[in-house]
Amino acid sequence: MEELKLDSKIMFCQMDELDDKDRILVETARAATDNSYSPYSKFKVGAAIRLDDGTIIKGANQENAAFSITICAERSAIYAAQAQHPEKAIVSIAIAARNEEGFTKEPVSPCGMCRQAMVEIEQRYSQPIHILLYGRKGVYVMDSISNLMPLSFVDLN
Ligand code: THU
Repeated sequence: MEELKLDSKIMFCQMDELDDKDRILVETARAATDNSYSPYSKFKVGAAIRLDDGTIIKGANQENAAFSITICAERSAIYAAQAQHPEKAIVSIAIAARNEEGFTKEPVSPCGMCRQAMVEIEQRYSQPIHILLYGRKGVYVMDSISNLMPLSFVDLN
């Protein structure tokens, strides 16, 4: 039997090490937490997407008393971008989250469903997504969702 090793490359840096575009996207994701509707979890997640023409689209988690129809910040931003600008590729996404005590210390990481949605975006626009995960201790930066979602499901038909 052969052992297959899968590599992920994730960079870690401080906000002031990011270039202007990335820092603005992270700041927009932080600001987008204000648009969260999360009376049940009280966990406000914000996302900001940059399209290939520079347009920025915000997303925030939207909860519901029927919990399972809640949508995460990442997918609310992705689907808003696709619904409004289907012809523009999504090039970057930044994510931030806070609870009643403030922004998380650890960088917030997208759930499995949002990772799967990002896999499809990379396929749809034939380019990787630059991903920025914000926490008070610093920012994780990666160049493709494949770093968080190896061996993902894709339509092989
Ligand atoms: N949430 C997100 O917005 N993004 C994720 O990747 C994981 C979780 C939201 C869903 C729910 O409103 C709250 O965080 C607590 O789970």
